[in-house]
Amino acid sequence: MGYGISYLSLPVQTMRHLNCLPVSGIRSYHLSDLSGYDMHRSAPSAIIRCASGCPRGGPRQRPPTRGMMNQEALNKSVAILGLGKMGSILLEAFLKQNLLAPGELCATVRHSERAKALNEKLPCSVTTDNRQAAGKADIILLCVKPQAVHEVCDEIRQEVGPDKLVLSIAASVPTGSIERLLEDTVPVVRAMPNTPCAVNAGMTGICAGRNAVAEHLEIAQRLFGAAGRTVVVDEKHMNAVTGLSASGPAFIYIILESLADAGVKLGLPRDIATLLAAQTAHGAAREVLDTGSHPALLKDEVTTSAGCTIDGIV
Ligand SMILES: NC(=O)c1ccc[n+]([C@@H]2O[C@H](COP(=O)([O-])OP(=O)(O)OC[C@H]3O[C@@H](n4cnc5c(N)ncnc54)[C@H](OP(=O)(O)O)[C@@H]3O)[C@@H](O)[C@H]2O)c1
Repeated sequence: MGYGISYLSLPVQTMRHLNCLPVSGIRSYHLSDLSGYDMHRSAPSAIIRCASGCPRGGPRQRPPTRGMMNQEALNKSVAILGLGKMGSILLEAFLKQNLLAPGELCATVRHSERAKALNEKLPCSVTTDNRQAAGKADIILLCVKPQAVHEVCDEIRQEVGPDKLVLSIAASVPTGSIERLLEDTVPVVRAMPNTPCAVNAGMTGICAGRNAVAEHLEIAQRLFGAAGRTVVVDEKHMNAVTGLSASGPAFIYIILESLADAGVKLGLPRDIATLLAAQTAHGAAREVLDTGSHPALLKDEVTTSAGCTIDGIV
């Protein structure tokens, strides 16, 4: 009923885009299928309209997420192959939460100059030798881009057996593809974190490959639990997880920027407008998580009859 452009359909477009990828192969991918997004739209009312047909129900059970795990030491050694943006965020979380000691961690990058610079900065060893790093670790955390997964798996194949765990965060790369590149019996777990892991507010979807058992999922939950919440899903949902929570922060930042722009248009200083927008989003998200209420019910609490909020919405 009269709901216009839906900004909330953008993650769905990304999910559709991911679902169009050939799932059997390892391919590069592009997440910029944002047709319909108009950079110049800034009015909040244009942003918060959602597609019609949202179910209206009472408070619901919370999804099976696990919050911050009790961070006892993991007592395993971990090799992070691909210490880029996400790899670094995770490494920092493991150290900060005392889940792993520096001596239990090592990492690799592609370029030797970068390895040298990181070595000087970080308390753990950083090299370009994937094979050696994988050989001495119990857990191999694959944090390279999807298109580098094949090459790295080829390199480490001889070093990885059923006693190890391979954990991949590469978007759109199925566990089956990684299993085929390694020995038959290697346990593989796929995870999809997001950048808010940097502030301990991450969301990571996790699924098991065919050789992974409960203990492997538990290890993955402990690792990613050091950086926020985790949820275990069937692998068929991993592309949806990628579109929703891994790409999701980008959509939220666009909404925050747009809300702040609207405030600036009405005369607020930029920093105050951004604070109001970000804390409001933070509070609204906390309310959904803490109460388990449907977002539509919480929205109804804000929209008094004939009030200014409903006026902005419809
Ligand atoms: N960014 C996100 O929000 C996000 C969220 C969830 C999942 N992911 C997944 O995380 C993975 C990494 O993404 P990112 O954003 O962190 O990318 P990134 O910053 O480009 O990091 C990739 C890292 O891999 C290293 N690398 C490349 N080839 C290598 C090789 N053969 N051996 C060892 N290291 C190698 C690069 O080394 P150099 O530094 O020397 O070039 C770089 O440090 C991707 O698969 C992505 O799908 C990303």
